[in-house]
Amino acid sequence: MTTENKHRTMVAPSILSADFGRMNEEIARMKQCGADIIHCDVMDGIFVPNITFGFKMISDIKKKTDMPLDVHLMIDKPERYAQRFIDAGADWLTIHAEATSELIPTLELIKSSGIKCGAVISPDTSVRVLRECFPICDIVLLMSVYPGFGGQKFIERSLERMTALKAMRDELNENALLEIDGGVTAENAAAIVRAGADVLVAGNTLFSAAHPEKVIEEFHAL
Ligand code: DX5
Ligand code: ZN
Repeated sequence: MTTENKHRTMVAPSILSADFGRMNEEIARMKQCGADIIHCDVMDGIFVPNITFGFKMISDIKKKTDMPLDVHLMIDKPERYAQRFIDAGADWLTIHAEATSELIPTLELIKSSGIKCGAVISPDTSVRVLRECFPICDIVLLMSVYPGFGGQKFIERSLERMTALKAMRDELNENALLEIDGGVTAENAAAIVRAGADVLVAGNTLFSAAHPEKVIEEFHAL
């Protein structure tokens, strides 16, 4: 992707930092503030040491909002449940390379259903792991914290990892969006976008902001 046709930076609030008892209002508030897509973190207590919610939550959210849903599966063997999340209304569905030995077939299954598919890597996984699947990914998601919890500190070496992914994108699939997830703040967002990110996930930064609309506006302008 050249600078000339670079789209506006997208902003994806992570509902992990929302009040789960008021989920519909929290999502409506982020829509009102200008968010582009809602990031939904699914955790199984096995792939990551935390549990959040599953496909019932996604389908209930889907009924109450017209925002697209970016569903990030942090579950072991995502091939077991990908179809359930597609049916529940995911618009983007991303799966971890570390969680499956069926990465490419599962991405192909997701893609063939007509929604966007993506591969995710955790901080200790080499970006090279993505080379083979990159051509079929609509999204490539780089974790900039260890998956499992919101509110962690951004791992600085994620910047060079993002730059490496950008080079891979330019070589292998110029249509893939590069997404980053974990520890994104008003202070580090510009450097992250310079490194190549097209989509910024932000949980704590947006849900704890006095004026999330201002943060989203700033992110859009990067
Ligand atoms: C972490 C999740 C993230 C998290 C980001 O495992 O995948 O989406 O909610 O939260 P912040 O932006 O607070 O680091
Ligand atoms: Zn996430």
